[in-house]
Amino acid sequence: MNTSTQLAYLLSTALFIFSLHWLSDPKTARKGVFAGVGAMLVAVLATWFGLESGHHWGWIIIAIAAGWIVGVPLSRVSLTAVPQRTALSHAFGGLAAGLVGAAEFYYWRSHAPENLTAFRMTAVIAEIILGFLTLTGSLMAAGKLMELKWPPQRPVTYKNQNLYNLAILALAVLLGILLIVNPTMGAGGFLFLLVILIAMAFGVLLIIPIGGADMPTVIALLNSYAGLSAVAMGFVLDNKLLITAGALDGSSGLILAIIMCKAMNRSFANVLFGAFGQVQQTAASGEQKAYKAESIEGAAQMMEQAGLVVIVPGYGMAVAQAQHKVRELYDQLKKRGIACKFAIHPVAGRMPGHMNVLLAEAEIPYDDLIEMEAINPDMPQADVCLVIGANDVVNPSARHAGSPISGMPIIDADRAKTVFAIKRSKNPGFAGIDNELYFGEHTFMLFGDAKAVVGDLVKQLAGGGMH
Ligand code: TAP
Repeated sequence: MNTSTQLAYLLSTALFIFSLHWLSDPKTARKGVFAGVGAMLVAVLATWFGLESGHHWGWIIIAIAAGWIVGVPLSRVSLTAVPQRTALSHAFGGLAAGLVGAAEFYYWRSHAPENLTAFRMTAVIAEIILGFLTLTGSLMAAGKLMELKWPPQRPVTYKNQNLYNLAILALAVLLGILLIVNPTMGAGGFLFLLVILIAMAFGVLLIIPIGGADMPTVIALLNSYAGLSAVAMGFVLDNKLLITAGALDGSSGLILAIIMCKAMNRSFANVLFGAFGQVQQTAASGEQKAYKAESIEGAAQMMEQAGLVVIVPGYGMAVAQAQHKVRELYDQLKKRGIACKFAIHPVAGRMPGHMNVLLAEAEIPYDDLIEMEAINPDMPQADVCLVIGANDVVNPSARHAGSPISGMPIIDADRAKTVFAIKRSKNPGFAGIDNELYFGEHTFMLFGDAKAVVGDLVKQLAGGGMH
């Protein structure tokens, strides 16, 4: 590799690192996106111009065109579909790594078997196992998030499932070791193909017992597998940029998964093997708890008299695209000198920072977005807590042992003096469990689509039609 390519790779690595650093703060996030795009562009151009002659340019152009055909539509999805979009891009990342590993293996096997050293074979085997399990695992995760008929969103479990899964993975690793010892083993590379098929089956079996509610965490974990498989690919191709970029990808995915687990007070083992989100048996089916509903006029009146209103946004606000109406409500309250704060739960919505992005889009001042730990001590002082399409993140049952979300930190909405909760129906939230908050003494439901209900509240406040 010539010096200019090496220098370009160094620049690209530095840009990737700065990109991640800048992405961690909303004020510099835009710069972070540009740095990431720039890093990738430098990497592709440096690889292109660093190639020795004799390569099949046609194939490279076809690969770039295929990337565009897949990438452009993937970039045009709505914000609520970002988790499944991310899963799909990991699937392609895994497929690319797996295919490169397979191509290198079969090429060397028939042309230069002496290149298949134990070190290189170890990297190839790691690359294909991680790459192909990421492919099928990510496709399953995307399918669950898209709420397709298959795979089912609920966890599918059976007896000794983890044991069978572990045995299947062990089989792939064992066959891989045989190939490391003797790369030409198995007629026509059949054994290698078998490892690929087993890795693909393992990806499906790994995800099937995990419920839809845990998919965002699983996707972050699959992100780190895809990164690791890129690292292995870097060793196979002797490409240092792939090694560093893959390591950054792998570690950032892992860190994200850890942050999500912490915010839900769950362990990795519980996410991967806990079958969270099983349909819950209603504990006391005889006893029907009653909701209290409130009119728009009544809710607006209460808000108008409040000193502090805390708004808790959740996934429903994203679905309804209600953020701009929420901004109008914020303006109405501010106009009256009422303090209005937003309580942000780290896993509200379907991806980290989901609420921050939506509220920033509506240009709500960042200083009024308060993290869960900071706002909770103030919740008893809130005259009104307006819950907009949030459910699990305000569910007080998280405080009790035995609840499926037990131990998950929540926003203490129930400690506010009055709670209004906007949602369309009596359906449970993502975790599939009833929410005690909605039956609380001081809670009143405002049933309806979040955008419509918040719009009505704004109209009511703007019209001053309260008596
Ligand atoms: P959810 O628990 O998913 O509840 C959303 C609520 O919004 C539902 O109760 C739904 O009720 C309501 N809703 C849906 N569409 C609506 C609309 N158009 N108008 C009004 N309401 C609407 O949301 P959450 O409280 O934000 O909790 C997030 C969940 O995702 C947690 O369980 C969390 O653990 C999980 N999770 C999140 C992440 C990240 S990183 N964010 C990662 C892993 C897991 P109706 O259907 O009755 O309207």
